[in-house]
Amino acid sequence: LFAQTCDFVAGADNAGALPPMTLPEIAFAGRSNVGKSSLLNALTGRKALARTSQTPGRTQQLNFFDLAHRLQLVDMPGYGYAAVGKDKVTAWTKLAQDFLRGRASLLRVYLLIDARHGLKPVDHETMDVFDRSAISFAVVLTKADEVKQMDRDAVCERTETDLRRHPAAFPTVLLTSSETGLGIPAMRGGIVQLMRE
Ligand code: GTP
Ligand code: MG
Repeated sequence: LFAQTCDFVAGADNAGALPPMTLPEIAFAGRSNVGKSSLLNALTGRKALARTSQTPGRTQQLNFFDLAHRLQLVDMPGYGYAAVGKDKVTAWTKLAQDFLRGRASLLRVYLLIDARHGLKPVDHETMDVFDRSAISFAVVLTKADEVKQMDRDAVCERTETDLRRHPAAFPTVLLTSSETGLGIPAMRGGIVQLMRE
């Protein structure tokens, strides 16, 4: 599946602009700058399909990508970055919630967490929203290349322990690096599995 073509379909900055629910979908959510757009590129093997940036707040709308006409990938704007302005944050939060709650085609949300920083209060708030709306999600630790080999297991274990209080969470976390490709084949496999369920 992931060897096939992936194309940009649409961007939506309000609920009225969301494309129709024609395909199963997975979405990438998480704080600004955790590496959502980079992970989408790594999974699809495309360097610049989704735009990435060192500056947080790069992705400013929901971007939809069609993978081989079988799966839609949704790159979400990051949360927790105040410098983009209060009005935008409010608009994005509303858009994200409208999207996540109303999307019957959504198979799962991947919640990305920077492996160097772990879960922050704002991530727990997001997971509380997922729990309340019964949106099943899996946590992906990103930028593993920035964490020493000997510390990686500890980060995974600590995160999995924290996830036990979130009923909508998948119990195991994935450790990934879009730089080195660590965990990318495993994540592709998980997505294919999810489509078969
Ligand atoms: P927003 O759209 O602003 O919410 O950010 P994002 O979550 O889409 O992050 P993006 O993919 O734009 O990446 C942010 C920065 O992190 C960029 O400078 C990337 O090069 C860097 N980055 C992403 N993934 C990795 C990774 O696996 N390892 C390392 N070392 N850097 C990464
Ligand atoms: Mg982005």
